[in-house]
Amino acid sequence: MKGKKILLGITGGIAAYKIAFLIRLLKKEEAEVKCIMTPASCDFISPLTIATLSENPVYIEFWNQKDGQWTNHVNLGMWPDVFLIAPLTANTLAKLATGYCDNLLLATYLSAKCPVMIAPAMDLDMYVHPTTIQNLVNLASFGVQILPAEEGFLASGLIGKGRMTEPEDILIKLKEFFNIGESLKGKKILLTAGPTYEHIDPVRFIGNHSTGKMGYAIAEEFLKRGAKVILISGPTKLELVHPNLQRLNVITAEDMLFQVQQQWSECNAGVFCAAVADYRPVYRENQKIKKKDEEITLTLVKNPDILAWAGQHKNSSQYLVGFALETNNAIDHARKKVQNKNLDAIVVNTLENEGAGFGHDTNKIAVLSKDFQLIDFPLKSKKELAKDLVDFISNSF
Ligand code: CTP
Repeated sequence: MKGKKILLGITGGIAAYKIAFLIRLLKKEEAEVKCIMTPASCDFISPLTIATLSENPVYIEFWNQKDGQWTNHVNLGMWPDVFLIAPLTANTLAKLATGYCDNLLLATYLSAKCPVMIAPAMDLDMYVHPTTIQNLVNLASFGVQILPAEEGFLASGLIGKGRMTEPEDILIKLKEFFNIGESLKGKKILLTAGPTYEHIDPVRFIGNHSTGKMGYAIAEEFLKRGAKVILISGPTKLELVHPNLQRLNVITAEDMLFQVQQQWSECNAGVFCAAVADYRPVYRENQKIKKKDEEITLTLVKNPDILAWAGQHKNSSQYLVGFALETNNAIDHARKKVQNKNLDAIVVNTLENEGAGFGHDTNKIAVLSKDFQLIDFPLKSKKELAKDLVDFISNSF
C-alpha cells in the first residue's frame, strides 16, 4: 500500500484502542496515514499515541486554541485516497446520516471527495436498534462502504454483534479497495518453519539454532498476496496473526510429519523451510537422566524426511520447494536433493556470507529449479528475500 493516503477518523468508543494496531499495520504496508479524532475519542486513546504511530499531527479541533491556527477541513477532505471512520459510534453514525457538522471529523466527512468506509462499533442492542439500522441504510445509499460489526465478546460483558471488525480484516478490506494483495487469492500454501525439538528426557532435547524467521517472512508474504497459509511451526518465539493463516504448532519431526500428512493433499504449493532434526533419541526417558557415569551414550534413530514424503505424494499440479543448508559443494548437493526428494525447486543457503543464516535478519540464497537453472540473490533482509521467493514461486504454478 506504498504511498496510499488513508485518512482515519476515530470516534469515542472503546474499540478506539484497536486503532493503534491498525495504524501499525498500515505503516508497515508503507501507507500514509493522517488521523482526525473526535474530542470524545481522546478519552479512549491518547492523541500522542495516534500522532506517534501515524507519524503525523492529529487533527481534533477546528482551530488550535494555543496558536489560533485553523485546520482546513476542506483540504483535509481532499487529501486522502480513502476516508475510513473506525471505530464509528452510534452517535457519530447518526450525525453522518443526518448531515450534522459540529466537529472537525463531521465537517471533513461532508467535504471529502474520496470514497468513505465506516467500521461501526457499539453494544449489541444499540447495533440492532431500528434507528441505527436506518442510519446505516442511509449511509449505504450515499455510497459509504460499511465494514459490518462482528459477533463476539463486548466491552459491556455481553456477547453479541457490535465488535468493530478486527484491524487485520480492515486492512484486507482496504487492500481489496485498492486491488492489492489478490494475486494469490484462492491458493493454499503449506509451510514448515522453525526447528524441531527431539526429546531426550522430560527436561532435555536435541534442537538447533533455527529461529523460524525466514519461514515466517515467507508466510507473511504469501498472506499479503491473498493466499491461505497453513504454517506448521516448530518451537519459536515469533508471532504471526492473520485471518487467512492457520498455524499448527508442533515440537518434534514426527509431529510435523503427521500435520504435513493431514494437510498436503489440499495445498497448491509447499515451501519447507523447517530445520528438521535428522535424528532423534531412540527412547524418550520418562524420568530425568541422573548424572552418574563419566560418559553416557545416546542412541539416535533417523527421523522421517518430511519433505521427501511430500515429494513422493505430490500430484502434477502441486509445486514443492525445499531448503538446503550446505557448507561445501552447495550446488551439487542441492541438485541431488531436488532429484531425490522430487522437488520443483530448492533454496540453497550456504552460511558462507556474513549476515546469512540462523538468527540473522538478512540472508544470502540461491534458488535451483528442477531444470537446474540457478538464480542467485544478493544478501538481503529476510523480508525482501521472502518477496523475491514468493515472486519466483508464484510465477511457477
Ligand atoms: N527436511 C525435512 N525432514 C527432514 C529433514 C529435512 O522435511 N527430516 C527438509 C528441510 O525442511 C529442508 C530440506 O529437507 O527443506 C533439506 O534439509 P537438509 O537438512 O539440508 O537436507 P537433508 O536431506 O537432511 O540432508 P543432509 O542433512 O545430508 O544435508
